[in-house]
Amino acid sequence: MDDRYFTPPIPNGWFQVAYSDEIKPGDVKPLKYFGDDLVIWRSEEGKLSVLDAFCPHLGAHLGHGGKVKGGSIECPFHAWQFGADGRCTGVPYAEHIPRKAKVGTWRIKELANMVLCWHHAEGKPPNFDLPAEIPEWGTSDGVRNEEWTDFIERQWTIRTRNQEMAENAVDSAHFHYLHGTTNMPQSEASVDGAILRVYSGAGMETPRGTVDGSIESLNYGFGLAVVRFKGIVETLNVATMTPIDADHIHLRFNFSVKQTAGAEMARGVGKAFVAEVARQLEQDIPIWENKVQYEKPLLCDGDGPIGIFRRWCTQFYSWPEDRQAAE
Ligand code: FES
Ligand SMILES: [Fe+2]
Repeated sequence: MDDRYFTPPIPNGWFQVAYSDEIKPGDVKPLKYFGDDLVIWRSEEGKLSVLDAFCPHLGAHLGHGGKVKGGSIECPFHAWQFGADGRCTGVPYAEHIPRKAKVGTWRIKELANMVLCWHHAEGKPPNFDLPAEIPEWGTSDGVRNEEWTDFIERQWTIRTRNQEMAENAVDSAHFHYLHGTTNMPQSEASVDGAILRVYSGAGMETPRGTVDGSIESLNYGFGLAVVRFKGIVETLNVATMTPIDADHIHLRFNFSVKQTAGAEMARGVGKAFVAEVARQLEQDIPIWENKVQYEKPLLCDGDGPIGIFRRWCTQFYSWPEDRQAAE
């Protein structure tokens, strides 16, 4: 284990593994998340599934050359087929399907064109939920909200862990000293089960000056943060952070702007907003990639609600037994 961190390597929760519209009926794609090899595929009728990648027969990767046949995925090696529930549905050259022929399945949810997977280190079922919809994107049955621009997607792979990235929102002092914002917004944090809400009354600084308003960030575990910037123009960033393995995170940002002030204005603001959030992120990256994580950091009174944040974090880990006993 990497001794840069004191927390267990991969937290529990809902994490984005794909965009819904990347996987069309009949598509198969390999995935690598949570230190595991997975395959995502959509049946010809449109049912989406995520399965463990390796065929129980002789170990081929279903995501490399596997094909959708009706409601099943067919292994490229000897054409065994598996359904969305992971069970073998056919072996073309055998009379009996071996009873143990089954691949592991992953629980998934679709939300605002994202596919999110439930990961739990001990295989336990979900103990918290995601929002039913993101209203700025649209309804849960896929009707888009025309008041908001199309989502602009950006992504990065970063050598860090979820908790390190999430701590950014409550770390008030770094906004001034690392990102160069003129004010040092004091954020308030509150916890409701698995949801952490971070609110800051200060506006967003852009190269064109400060936009008065507020920033509210709702964190559904470590995997999904819905960040709303209110002011002259309302903007949204849906951020998802997915562990690839113990040392790397796949970060996706999805930006949108409310078009009340006109499409032209929304496009201009959207561009400046994406540039500013990306600029700040690229200043955070070398810090995250090289820092260590202290279990007991040395804090001072201007530091922001890091203690509330750290307590919220503990619920997302399967701690080793010796640690549980000590608590
Ligand atoms: S390895 Fe998959 S069918 Fe043989
Ligand atoms: Fe930051």
